[in-house]
Amino acid sequence: MSLSDYGSALVTGASSGIGTALVRALTERGIKTYALARRRKRLDALATETGCTPLVVDLRDKEEIDRALSELDVDILINNAGHGRSEGPLHQADVNAIYDMIQTNVSSGLHLVRAISPRLVARRHGHIVMIGSVAGLHPIKASVYGATKGAIHLLCQNLRIELVGTGVRVTEICPGRVRTEFFEHAFGTAQGRELTSGFTLLEPEDIASAVVHALDAPQRVNITMVEMTPTEQAVGGLQIAESGNIA
Ligand SMILES: NC(=O)c1ccc[n+]([C@@H]2O[C@H](COP(=O)([O-])OP(=O)(O)OC[C@H]3O[C@@H](n4cnc5c(N)ncnc54)[C@H](OP(=O)(O)O)[C@@H]3O)[C@@H](O)[C@H]2O)c1
Repeated sequence: MSLSDYGSALVTGASSGIGTALVRALTERGIKTYALARRRKRLDALATETGCTPLVVDLRDKEEIDRALSELDVDILINNAGHGRSEGPLHQADVNAIYDMIQTNVSSGLHLVRAISPRLVARRHGHIVMIGSVAGLHPIKASVYGATKGAIHLLCQNLRIELVGTGVRVTEICPGRVRTEFFEHAFGTAQGRELTSGFTLLEPEDIASAVVHALDAPQRVNITMVEMTPTEQAVGGLQIAESGNIA
């Protein structure tokens, strides 16, 4: 099984950034691609450009997911939609931001796999790709976002065990910083720009290439996880409080 053996794909979060690059990459390879997001105008423009089929769905609403996807039969699910919200430390976080990130980044992924995978298992071929994050693998100062991406990481590991022997492959892609709208949406224009300037970020097309590489691998190969960062970004560090600050 390589990309040319797959016929169709669902890409979530297709209206911008990584999702848009994925839709372009897949349609260029002749894959019938369903492009899902909330912003209809963006999806319509992408449909005109690439020939993809738009699906306007708010992934926080399970009934909307079920309505839109009940008849959908695809070989590839790319669970890419997701976002961060300016959360601050958890002891100061906004409750709505917590629910929003959990619904968008985690619950929707579970519902999508639940909706799409029975047909993959029945056909004994298919590919599930999850866009995680380095934030799901390493500590960062964003407890909720990191926890949602950590959940995706373990979900992928668990799915591989559940699906072993079915022919369905599961790939997790964990990017560092990518040049998309992500940071402006999460932190507002000024802080978003600050977080994405002064170094060379990954491009959405870099993530799409990694996904295509995993889809293109022969059926005997499951590329389980790819962690990729900008060359000018490294993850990790040590936090030390100033002495005398603890009561
Ligand atoms: N950019 C980075 O540095 C980075 C790093 C690591 C991981 N990631 C991950 O990469 C994925 C894609 O993000 P991006 O960087 O491409 O950001 P982006 O440009 O902001 O794209 C996010 C996409 O998710 C969609 N989305 C958000 N909430 C949704 C909802 N409730 N229902 C349906 N669609 C929804 C948005 O579409 P609508 O607003 O039109 O619904 C948009 O298409 C995310 O999972 C993100 O966590 C990004």
